[in-house]
Amino acid sequence: MIDYTNILSTSAEPEASSMIETFRAIGYSIETAIADIIDNSITAGARNIWLDYDWMGSKTTLSILDDGIGMNNKQLIQAMRPGSKSPLNERKQDDLGRFGLGLKTASFSQTRKFTVFSKSKGGELVFWTWDLDYVKQEEAWKLIQYIPEHEVWSQKTKTVDSGTCVIWWDLDRLTKGTTADDEKAKSKFLGIMDSVKSHISMVFHRYMDEGIKILFRGREIKSWDPFMIGIDGLQTKPETRLAGGSIRIKGFILPHRSKLSVEEYDYGKGPKDNWTAHQGFYVYRNRRLLVGGDWLGLFKREVHYDLCRIQIDLPNNLDNDWQIDIKKSIARPPSIYRDSILSLAKEVRNQAVEVYRHKGKVLKRKLASDEYFLFWEERARHGKRFYKINRNHPLITELYSISGNLKYEIEKVIQFIEETVPVPLITLQESENEKPHGQPFEGVDPIAIKETMQRLFSGFVSSGLSIEKAKARILNTEPFNFYPEYIEFMAHE
Ligand SMILES: Nc1ncnc2c1ncn2[C@@H]1O[C@H](COP(=O)(O)OP(=O)(O)O)[C@@H](O)[C@H]1O
Ligand SMILES: [Mg+2]
Repeated sequence: MIDYTNILSTSAEPEASSMIETFRAIGYSIETAIADIIDNSITAGARNIWLDYDWMGSKTTLSILDDGIGMNNKQLIQAMRPGSKSPLNERKQDDLGRFGLGLKTASFSQTRKFTVFSKSKGGELVFWTWDLDYVKQEEAWKLIQYIPEHEVWSQKTKTVDSGTCVIWWDLDRLTKGTTADDEKAKSKFLGIMDSVKSHISMVFHRYMDEGIKILFRGREIKSWDPFMIGIDGLQTKPETRLAGGSIRIKGFILPHRSKLSVEEYDYGKGPKDNWTAHQGFYVYRNRRLLVGGDWLGLFKREVHYDLCRIQIDLPNNLDNDWQIDIKKSIARPPSIYRDSILSLAKEVRNQAVEVYRHKGKVLKRKLASDEYFLFWEERARHGKRFYKINRNHPLITELYSISGNLKYEIEKVIQFIEETVPVPLITLQESENEKPHGQPFEGVDPIAIKETMQRLFSGFVSSGLSIEKAKARILNTEPFNFYPEYIEFMAHE
């Protein structure tokens, strides 16, 4: 530290109201905001958490009550301070907090006014309110001791021996300008509450399974387990540990749709109501989910990876490395583990694709036919080998059928290709090179092959072939026979 004893200094405190407006722009959704409040309840040792709301248009309230250890007056004021703990502080192992901001940033992201009631065991009930409009007027970081219907809220908090109740009572982002009898606004609000509920069922599923109850308007929320542990046909990879055991990774391959009941299949769709949206990594910090189904920028989402879900468990002391954000909704693998995670994930992904490949192959076998469409055929001419493109290959017949007056030109180019295949060069390379050459389209974005497959499929079906026959024909056509995993996803109009 430089010695500033004789140097002029001036204070430059943050301007309270603009700072709070900045908090409001962090980008929480109501789902992530409520989850952040629930984190505090769990860290405070709550066994029960009650999420309630009362639709009253712009006067709607939303509250989260817990039966955790609660706070006394001094602790509550400290808790209401932005930056009440430094992110650099060591946290207890089971602490879900991080920046000392969540309570404030999450609340302000949804509301202009919020109150926290709290009570430690045997202690007084205390409460304080942040009102952004008051802060603006005073231009000071000042809490007030006010809430409409004070008695109602204090009674509510008193139902627990010790605990805390967070009340959002000016949900301007959601309810501004609406009235209690505005049915359209109400049903939109209820829809949002529904999605809050599903988000919670996923984010805290491991805590719920360990006995913590989260009640939504009095009814216990059921947990949603992305891995459907215990279901028949679930494939589980052995756990891999990185960073001396503090990072644990486990791959799951969920059962194919045909192995699931309708209810099980719907369950697998999860809060996002979609299998594809739920493939990928599930990153947990202290068993609390941060990211629910995302490839973390390592891969693209593609339907044939629908059955692949990978659990990553992190402790709470690697936040910096994983770039955990304030909202606790983003995580990024540190570059030193990127390669290990990548290769692990590839293995699980391949195993997941294998389920569809197998299905495709079974279909092909079941409908085995004599027809098989090679792309290239070997011929002999004057005792010499040469290679010809199969004019009966579905792609070629299709091309000719739409070629119109270009047909002659196309035929000529194809002939040129055939006559100039560099057979000696290929033969030489093949015998000298140790690296085997790949299968068609290997390592290439499969979009071309998928689109072509889909087009052929539609063509076959509209020309009268049954769906199964059309699929079987594609599986008997080069080079689509290398990609039976895509056949499941061919759509017909
Ligand atoms: N429901 C609660 N029960 C008990 N203490 C709480 C509760 N919510 C917040 N606190 C206290 O307020 C502090 C600040 O919370 P918060 O702003 O969410 O930051 P962080 O969780 O990162 O510490 C917490 O560390 C905790 O001490
Ligand atoms: Mg917190």
